[in-house]
Parts: sequence; structure tokens; C-alpha cells
Amino acid sequence: MPDPNPNALDFLLTRRSRPAKTLQAPAPDRAQLRPLLQAAARTPDHGKLEPWRFIVIEKPAMARLAEIAQRRGEALGLDADQITKGRSQFDQGHLAVAVIESPKPSEKIPALEQTYSAGAVCLALLNAALSAGWGANWLSGWPSHDRTFMREAFALADHERIAGLIHIATETSTPPDRPRPDLDTITSWMPE
Ligand SMILES: Cc1cc2nc3c(=O)[nH]c(=O)nc-3n(C[C@H](O)[C@H](O)[C@H](O)COP(=O)(O)O)c2cc1C
Repeated sequence: MPDPNPNALDFLLTRRSRPAKTLQAPAPDRAQLRPLLQAAARTPDHGKLEPWRFIVIEKPAMARLAEIAQRRGEALGLDADQITKGRSQFDQGHLAVAVIESPKPSEKIPALEQTYSAGAVCLALLNAALSAGWGANWLSGWPSHDRTFMREAFALADHERIAGLIHIATETSTPPDRPRPDLDTITSWMPE
């Protein structure tokens, strides 16, 4: 017999992100963040390779990342708008967790499965934060795909990537839900 957890299912059926730019202080402190990271680390991981890790960006580090994004945008010849877009999440952010995809050599587990697992960690962290009552948002942006930014900002090795930047702080308003996929369009049932 199933052993339902209706609160958990209700959360999953209604969960939604809170746009990062609407978040305000306070952000979770280290003790409050730890169980959220713990929950995210319970993500399915074929072969138990742990192909991901966390870098926590607290407020003082945000300013450094904004400056690195600025310098990098100028070096890439981006226009002022693009540079502002790239740095704004760090200018405005209170706390974010960079989920780093850190693939492990394996003869058995394809790299793609390790990538999927890193993406799943991002959603698990987002959901843990939302379920704890925080506002949270999964962002990327051009700096998070730029190899030089990854190295200068986070000292990532060349085989590592940023799977997501999960911003977590206090929500100011609950946004209306966005349109959700039509289940019948995305689902087919195998013929019997
Ligand atoms: C990999 C990934 C990267 C994203 N990057 C951004 C971003 O840089 N800027 C942005 O406004 N939204 C970005 N989004 C979308 C936001 O997370 C958006 O809030 C989310 O789709 C809302 O989903 P929800 O309402 O189901 O929680 C990204 C989403 C994913 C999955």
C-alpha cells in the first residue's frame, strides 16, 4: 500500500520560484543553510560518484563576483547592457549557492548522467529552500558559462562547470504562477 505524504505532494504541485531580484535580506545563515545543502546532497547519483559540490556565496563575496563579471564583460567586448545583466545578480544577491558539476572519471557512468545529477541537485536545493519558507531562484547568466569567469570567480578546474546559481533569501511577494505545461501534450502512454 502507498504511504502518502500529502504535504510533500501539495508542495511539489504548487511550488514556484521567487524572482531573485525580488528577494531581500535576511538570507539564511550558515546553520540554516546546512540542512538545505544536506537535502540537496541526497540527490540520485548513479554510481555514488558525487559529481557535484557547493560553493556558498555570502554577501561580501557578491561584490567581488560583480567586479569580476564587470572586468570579464569588458574584456569580451560586451555592451554596457550585457555587462549590467551579467553582474546584476551579484550586485543584488544576498546569498547564493553555486552548484558545481564536478564530473568523476568512470568507465561505467556516462558523463551525461553526471550532468543530469548536477541539474537535479540544483532543483533539490531550490525545493529545499522553498519548502523551508525562503524565496529562491535558479539563475545562470553569461558569466556562469564563461570559462575565465569560472576560474577567476570560483577557481574551478577545467573539467568543472557551474550547473546553477541558486539564490536564497527572504521573499517580498509571492508571484502569480506561470503557465504550466499541458500534461496531455508532453505525456504519451505506451500502447498495451
Ligand atoms: C538552468 C537554468 C538556468 C536559468 N537561468 C536563468 C537566468 O539566468 N535568469 C532568469 O531570469 N531565469 C533563469 N532561469 C529560470 C528561472 O529559474 C525561473 O525562475 C524558473 O524557470 C521558474 O520556475 P518555477 O516557477 O517552476 O520555479 C533558469 C532556469 C534554469 C533551469
